[in-house]
Amino acid sequence: MKFSAAIATLAAAGSALAAPSEPETFDLMALRSASPIHFAPFSAAKSNILLNLKHQNATCEGDNYNRATFYLKDSGLFLYSKGVKHQRIFVDRSGMGQGKIGYLTDNTYLPRHFELKGWAIDKNGDLNFNGSSLFACSGAIDDAWSVWVLIPSNPTPARNEECLGMSSRTIPIKKPVSCEYSQ
Ligand SMILES: *[C@@H]1O[C@H](CO)[C@@H](O)[C@H](O)[C@H]1NC(C)=O
Ligand SMILES: *[C@@H]1O[C@H](CO)[C@@H](O)[C@H](O)[C@H]1NC(C)=O
Repeated sequence: MKFSAAIATLAAAGSALAAPSEPETFDLMALRSASPIHFAPFSAAKSNILLNLKHQNATCEGDNYNRATFYLKDSGLFLYSKGVKHQRIFVDRSGMGQGKIGYLTDNTYLPRHFELKGWAIDKNGDLNFNGSSLFACSGAIDDAWSVWVLIPSNPTPARNEECLGMSSRTIPIKKPVSCEYSQ
């Protein structure tokens, strides 16, 4: 018993050492049947997370016109990049932010009410923030939809015209494209 436990411990340590240093990356797709956002990929542009954006104009090592690639680390959500710039998703559930999701580049300035941790992937493979699902509102740049964390008391934040609940399905990406997304 003791011996096999020691072997198991060694094996676990070995696999941890052998594990690739690359994070487990994924893209995200909106699921809301019979709506304009069904199957829309999540994009990242101008410090916003968007759906139905034609071109995110990111600086990438490869083609990544409208799909952003993410990874989770310690319940924080990051945009994948091999570069020196560090881009991290925040949620602003303050009265002003109303559930707004965006990203920070290099964490230069972090307002006190911005939340960075609380992201998780549920058993269906859907991303949520502290158990809250995400939703999207029309009227963002280039006719895209902006992505928010649902605050039940505020279903149409910032007077957005049309808002829809959705599932945010993760799609594992084996060979991620490194990008620096626009600020
Ligand atoms: C991307 O670039 C095109 C062409 O310059 C521009 O029309 C469009 O508004 C840009 N979109 C974003 C999200 O930056
Ligand atoms: C996360 O969710 C739990 C349960 O709904 C809640 O009690 C807690 O306050 C939430 N935490 C944050 C930081 O919102």
